[in-house]
Amino acid sequence: MANDSKGTIGILTGGGDAPGLNAVIRAVVRRAEQLGFKVLGVKNGWLGMLKEQADPLTRESVSGILHRGGTILGTSRTNPLKKEEDKKKVKENMKKMGINYLIPVGGEDTLGVARVLAAEGLKVVGIPKTIDNDVEGTDQTFGFDTAVSIITEAIDRLHTTAESHHRVMVVEVMGRHAGWLAIMGGLAGGADCILIPERSVPIDDVCGIVRRRREHGKMFSIVVVAEGFQLSGADKDVVTKSAKLDQFGHVQLGGIGEIIASEIERRTGFETRATVLGHTQRGGSPTAFDRVLGTRYGVKAVDLIAEGKCGMMVCLKGNQITAVPLASALTKLKLVDPELVATAEIFYA
Ligand code: F6P
Repeated sequence: MANDSKGTIGILTGGGDAPGLNAVIRAVVRRAEQLGFKVLGVKNGWLGMLKEQADPLTRESVSGILHRGGTILGTSRTNPLKKEEDKKKVKENMKKMGINYLIPVGGEDTLGVARVLAAEGLKVVGIPKTIDNDVEGTDQTFGFDTAVSIITEAIDRLHTTAESHHRVMVVEVMGRHAGWLAIMGGLAGGADCILIPERSVPIDDVCGIVRRRREHGKMFSIVVVAEGFQLSGADKDVVTKSAKLDQFGHVQLGGIGEIIASEIERRTGFETRATVLGHTQRGGSPTAFDRVLGTRYGVKAVDLIAEGKCGMMVCLKGNQITAVPLASALTKLKLVDPELVATAEIFYA
């Protein structure tokens, strides 16, 4: 029987949702109950801390959620560091709500807030989440594996229609300023060209690849482009859907796929179509890998709290779940390894 003498852990999920969030929540609650902590589920990321919105989580309330996508807690891109008074409020509300320890689950933005609060003395343990896989300090974030599987399946499907119609298909994927989704999804799907934010490429190089494929009798091509890719040459800006910034200063990316597709068609004369995978990459059930990774992260976060090791971010190093100081984990974005790019290039025409 669990006793409640060890204190209360609050858990919140912030930023874009990612498959595996519910696995984390379930694991935190189960491990916490086992070790004698209570758990409060804070609603909608940092917004719930500002509005004092939280409900107790128990073994019963997290039953049956392991396989479900999204997050039962809701999420938001609220940034409590934008105003000094909001940061103060988070600290005050943590006390008011009776939260002794906080587990924020998120990417660079959510965990960036966690890092600042930890440095100012709050007892925080972060869990890295994002389909973009761009969090420095961990080999992998949960959600990424599921998104790569979705991209792979989409490319498989696009292959058959591309081949039937003798078309070039351009597939735009997410990932913000990192090309992990594009490179891994593209490699797994057998893409003929993969365009990532880490490396600008002239459009003529892309056209050269699809032309060479035709010369070799391949009448179709698949080009994967990350939403944050920039063509080298005339227009070096990222393509955005709207100039509006979110609370963390991010623009909404999107539209590069259409630009690449129309340029390929104009320059080569080959019929070309663009497909934007969009939020399908974040939706639905997590893969087995993400369920297990989320579960291991959740358990480890509670174990760190029980051991008195706050100010840390749980992480995956090789096959081991371990932890790094929040302060060192989030100093820069984790970008695609050039070795992966070189591997992908072997298969370009
Ligand atoms: O960070 C995750 C992510 O899915 C990015 O890949 C993408 O650029 C962004 O979120 C989209 O955000 P939103 O769902 O707010 O449009």
